[in-house]
Amino acid sequence: MVGTGVFAEIFDGDLDVFKYYSEGEWKKSSSGKSVAIINPTTRKTQYKVQACTQEEVNKVMETAKSAQKLWAKTPLWKRAELLHKAASILKEHKAPIAECLVKEIAKPSKDAVTEVVRSGDLVSYCAEEGVRILGEGKFLVSDSFPGNQRTKYCLSSKIPLGVILAIPPFNYPVNLAVSKIAPALIAGNSLVLKPPTQGSVAALHMVHCFHLAGFPKGLISCVTGKGSEIGDFLTMHPGVGCISFTGGDTGIAISKKAGMIPLQMELGGKDACIVLEDADLDLVAANIIKGGFSYSGQRCTAVKVVLVMESVADTLVEKVKAKVAKLTVGPPEDDCDITPVVSESSANFIEGLVIDAKKKGATFCQQYRRDGNLIWPLLLDNVRPDMRIAWEEPFGPVLPVIRINSVEEGIHHCNASNFGLQGCVFTKDINKAMLISDAMETGTVQINSAPARGPDHFPFQGLRDSGIGSQGITNSITMMTKIKTTVINLPTPSYTMG
Ligand code: G3H
Repeated sequence: MVGTGVFAEIFDGDLDVFKYYSEGEWKKSSSGKSVAIINPTTRKTQYKVQACTQEEVNKVMETAKSAQKLWAKTPLWKRAELLHKAASILKEHKAPIAECLVKEIAKPSKDAVTEVVRSGDLVSYCAEEGVRILGEGKFLVSDSFPGNQRTKYCLSSKIPLGVILAIPPFNYPVNLAVSKIAPALIAGNSLVLKPPTQGSVAALHMVHCFHLAGFPKGLISCVTGKGSEIGDFLTMHPGVGCISFTGGDTGIAISKKAGMIPLQMELGGKDACIVLEDADLDLVAANIIKGGFSYSGQRCTAVKVVLVMESVADTLVEKVKAKVAKLTVGPPEDDCDITPVVSESSANFIEGLVIDAKKKGATFCQQYRRDGNLIWPLLLDNVRPDMRIAWEEPFGPVLPVIRINSVEEGIHHCNASNFGLQGCVFTKDINKAMLISDAMETGTVQINSAPARGPDHFPFQGLRDSGIGSQGITNSITMMTKIKTTVINLPTPSYTMG
């Protein structure tokens, strides 16, 4: 299914490698080199993609620039129409794209399908929202400001930024790509996509759905290859008008190197779950499992530290332990809850955090177990602030529990983190929940539910090292535009009318 049927043209069967997308065509790189995509489950090469050159990046930027000029003049309703078409093609081909997600990033098979469907919905919603918000402007008259007469009429509207560079992460190579592509296009921008290596093939299939929808040549491009070879070249390219990045620390490095252009950054999170004495502990346990262990904890919005009041900690830990025991562990093809983490280096990093916690006396609620990239779910109780896992994000199925003696202690831990993405609080007292939400220095606080980005039209933002700007469909469209004003100047009246 992958690279066949309608997707046959994106694959070079002779060389067994996927092509890149430039000038509306699927091409082979002149480098003659490819990059291997390692299946996290088998740890063997699953696919290969082109290692694009800097010259090919230059070409893509050049065509993106000229395609954008025409696209910006294309009526908004027509841009929306093409996005709707792409959304339905994407959903129609959910099976092969989901298959890529299973093989490239070990996403459980049902979640892989959900990611593609959610992406189609995002694109459609974005088309509709774009028509609403980009069709509106603002009108000001001058006599509302002291000293002015009613002689100036100011009309403002939103215009595109130019070429948007989109860099999504491995954990949502389709959804977090379209969350950048759709707002960019509806707003009249062109788009250059650099997919993550693990996830490239899913992203190439997704791009082909946009190709099949009939977008103009050069408006969308997708270059693949090693970040070490084309990463800086892309992010520092003078043709780029805005960067939308989701990922880890690389985003901080990009922010320091990028020029004077708008940046949208969604970086890491150490999302805290504060549990009060009056919380519904069954609800908390269910949300800790969903929030902490779905996609094996490889979500920036995963619950990454539980801060529970000592008086209810024993009961909560027992409830979570019982649920952890029921999680299925194994290959993504079997739709297991816990699947291999994305790479061997990720698994080694997670193991480092576990060893550090063990040395410093954390209580292991399960035995630590690893087979290749597969790490069994692990709850670590009695974690203390001197342990690395109290602060670092494992991006894996390992969850620390810190017992607290006051709500203030929990808020303090949450706010002392260098991250500030999301957090959650569990209590039956809405007044307390609101006060705690105000005190937690994170982009979002969920009351009585685990952190999550969706629904995809909700604002989504991180404080401190968790990001720059706010995402969510409406915010992303706005972010990918600038304001243009035209002022109509009337002659100053020499007499008062009427
Ligand atoms: O990994 C970062 C994603 O933005 C998380 O999205 O909350 O839908 O899993 P999610």
